[in-house]
Amino acid sequence: MEKLIKSKERVKKFAEVYTPEHIVNEMLDMVEDSEPMRIETTFLEPACGNGNFLVKILERKLKLCHNADDIITAVQSIYGVDILADNVKESKQRMFELICKMVMEENIQVGNFLKPETLEFVDWVNKKIDKDERCK
Ligand SMILES: C[S@@+](CC[C@H](N)C(=O)[O-])C[C@H]1O[C@@H](n2cnc3c(N)ncnc32)[C@H](O)[C@@H]1O
Repeated sequence: MEKLIKSKERVKKFAEVYTPEHIVNEMLDMVEDSEPMRIETTFLEPACGNGNFLVKILERKLKLCHNADDIITAVQSIYGVDILADNVKESKQRMFELICKMVMEENIQVGNFLKPETLEFVDWVNKKIDKDERCK
């Protein structure tokens, strides 16, 4: 079960109630109905909490990325602010983990190094990434 508050004090003092994942997705779907997501679209979350919107925006952008430059553009165009430092830390951590997961799932693999034909590496810098499996 999703935890939507950290403490009653924080709710009282900072109105800190996080948005559930399904509502974040529904809201982003509504935005995308009129303005489809682009890698370079700028987002600013003025009260980002622990990153629920930032993470989902990044996730959607990463699905559109074809190379390392795209990934940088996707991240650089997402901005967030929160009055509580622990929220900012958590937001950054979650976004970082999302990118690492995407790259590591391609780069670190089970394989037999003596049979290189069974291995498949993505060249993030020079080549296009065309796997549909990314970001899952
Ligand atoms: C209702 S929560 C929403 C969090 C996040 N946007 C979400 O939907 O999950 C409001 C957030 O605003 C932050 N906040 C309150 N006052 C603020 C201020 N003056 N400037 C920036 N952030 C603030 C709180 O710390 C809290 O994380």
